[in-house]
Amino acid sequence: MNNQHILEVKNLTKVYKGEGYEVTALNDISFQLGAGEMVAVMGTSGSGKSTLLNILGALDEPTNGAIKLNGMLSKDRFQEPQASAYRRNNIGFIFQSFHLLKDLSVEENIALPLVLKGLAADEIDLKVTNIMELLGLTAWKQHRPVQLSGGQQQRVAIGRAIITEPPILLADEPTGNLDFNTSKIILDTLVTTKNKLSQSILLVIHDPNVATYADHVLFFHDGSIIDTYTCSGNSDLDYILEKFKLITKVEIHKI
Ligand SMILES: Nc1ncnc2c1ncn2[C@@H]1O[C@H](COP(=O)(O)OP(=O)(O)OP(=O)(O)O)[C@@H](O)[C@H]1O
Ligand SMILES: [Mg+2]
Repeated sequence: MNNQHILEVKNLTKVYKGEGYEVTALNDISFQLGAGEMVAVMGTSGSGKSTLLNILGALDEPTNGAIKLNGMLSKDRFQEPQASAYRRNNIGFIFQSFHLLKDLSVEENIALPLVLKGLAADEIDLKVTNIMELLGLTAWKQHRPVQLSGGQQQRVAIGRAIITEPPILLADEPTGNLDFNTSKIILDTLVTTKNKLSQSILLVIHDPNVATYADHVLFFHDGSIIDTYTCSGNSDLDYILEKFKLITKVEIHKI
């Protein structure tokens, strides 16, 4: 992987404990996310993918292990107010279920993180106008989420995640509800903005056809990384399809 790592994850373990149950969601995983790289995470349902993203985004705390950001460990990243500051300064989140605010318009949803940051109105206007242009949303700027298609809503969610230009984007199945063509548009959008903003992206994805967009693919099973693949060209899709079939017992065809 890249020499310059924005994130280094070492021996990360997460155990959920409650009354009468104990689940090891992540079991001693280690990997790096290089600066400017896109890494895809694939695996069975319940293999720990969302748990990983939540911990990297400081929405949840690990049981064990270390996460370095730009080579630095932070002892209290998971305590408030440091967790919020860490998220605000470093992380953009895209959730599968969009999480848009239904009473706000497209432009208001995208502007929200900047409003919360306290930026001046004209600065916000300029940034939101640029992002809507980049994402092809200008014509819908006054619409409410309910008036938009799934792909359009997902583009609004991307806009809201990247408006603060975070160095790291965490995306949990951002194309999970979308058909292949719309997924491709979303993925193309993510790659364009990633290159424009020099972002690093960790992307949970189910479709091997879209995993080929990544620089590396991490295959998860039962809380462990069982394989890491580096994409290099033509045979990527064959490898990813075969590995995915092996792990999930689900066969997906090339598109
Ligand atoms: N808050 C929680 N409390 C208890 N167990 C949890 C919690 N969150 C997740 N788990 C468990 O941890 C394991 C990993 O869950 P996780 O949501 O990370 O899986 P996933 O790989 O994202 O699955 P999917 O593909 O279905 O989204 C599962 O067994 C799940 O039941
Ligand atoms: Mg999940």
